[in-house]
Amino acid sequence: MDKVNLMKIMLVGSGGREHALAWKMAQSPLLAELVLAPGNDAMAKLSSNNLAISRHQEIAADDVMALVELAKSCQPDLVVIGPENALADGLADELSEIGINVFGPSSAAARLESSKAFTKSFCQKHNIPAARSKTVTSENEANDYLETLSPPYVLKADGLAAGKGVVIIDDLAKAKASAKQMLDGQFGEASSKLVIEEFLTGEEASLFVLCDGETAIPMAGAQDHKRAFDGDTGPNTGGMGCYSPAPILDDYMSAKVMQQIVQPTLAGMKKQGAPFSGVLYVGLMIDNNQPKLIEYNVRFGDPECQVLMLRLQSDIIPALLACAKGKLAELEPLSWNYRSAACVVLAANGYPGVVTKGSIITGIEQAEKTPEVTVFHAGTRISTGGEVSANGGRVLNITANGDDLTQAVANCYGAVERINWHEGFYRRDIGWRGLRE
Ligand code: AMP
Ligand code: GLY
Repeated sequence: MDKVNLMKIMLVGSGGREHALAWKMAQSPLLAELVLAPGNDAMAKLSSNNLAISRHQEIAADDVMALVELAKSCQPDLVVIGPENALADGLADELSEIGINVFGPSSAAARLESSKAFTKSFCQKHNIPAARSKTVTSENEANDYLETLSPPYVLKADGLAAGKGVVIIDDLAKAKASAKQMLDGQFGEASSKLVIEEFLTGEEASLFVLCDGETAIPMAGAQDHKRAFDGDTGPNTGGMGCYSPAPILDDYMSAKVMQQIVQPTLAGMKKQGAPFSGVLYVGLMIDNNQPKLIEYNVRFGDPECQVLMLRLQSDIIPALLACAKGKLAELEPLSWNYRSAACVVLAANGYPGVVTKGSIITGIEQAEKTPEVTVFHAGTRISTGGEVSANGGRVLNITANGDDLTQAVANCYGAVERINWHEGFYRRDIGWRGLRE
């Protein structure tokens, strides 16, 4: 590992994931200056010894041109990119071209998330275990393939659709109608191509892996809760809560995922001229001890990043820099807190649909009085007087450690009780899968 002097880091994004990354980086003795684009009010208030924070609220996290201009003018030692859109649009390529270290993949490597059709053909080519599927561009092709499958039917928009591009339907006629609607532009350009695939049964979990194009180092596993309401009912969301570690992703299973999925992915991407660097989010379905890939994401999960950051004991900056510089093989092993961490998302009523902004939230300080608890802000505004109000769909991430999952979850819900916010809701069953085992 290069000796790293005090650093200036530019962080792209404004959600709970980026708050957690900023919170963790702010604890590092290596960080002198943090540049937020656009950041959020809570991130701007992070303080630690002699850390200078500047914020460029006017720059959106997907505005590649403006982000490149900012990087040119502030010359950071590293840019850490939180969300996927700017990655798909080539932010990492542009920064690399001007000699700036960047944590996050090139646009070509980000296709692992931005094109499901690319990923399916990649998996076939490199023998990566995944659901049987076909990519279609016409109604006739869709209907013909659907007829060869048994229900439920899984239809996926090819491109980025803010987590909404997957539908699962029990009835053949309805699946055909839905395929037509998607091909007709339900998700715009993103659904002009569809991936139709067999339904996988089993248990879902995700493994997060640091990559530098060549070397891959597993971080930890997590399990998310994608549906809005208790009992995994209601619409799909960006994630309503999660926990780490995931009991199903034990050392044996993680090693299997590394060997059968991650290593061939890294080797395959390198061979195809698009080496992957950054963090690979490997979404899995595990059945009978056999993992299959459901999806890749090319960034940290949100809220999964929040629980990983709570559990990570090592300084994160050398790890992010090693990914950027192709030096992961030289990184000292990461050290993890082997206890559990959980996260409960407080969302505004109406999420994932239309929400009202501006309602007042109190009690966050009281919630954080328990040393195990950290509250990350996903969508809030903080007035100059310190009053917190809701400013998005997912609003707060109540995150806590515990000796085991039962305790971590109890610590989260204990903290949630101390927060007063009448216009929000949360799931009361975060952790149910892990607690059942
Ligand atoms: P994706 O955006 O590909 O992760 O899909 C969203 C969610 O749909 C996943 O988290 C799974 O719960 C579910 N899903 C996706 N593909 C499949 C599949 N082939 N079989 C069963 N469930 C799936
Ligand atoms: N929590 C799911 C995601 O970040 O995609």
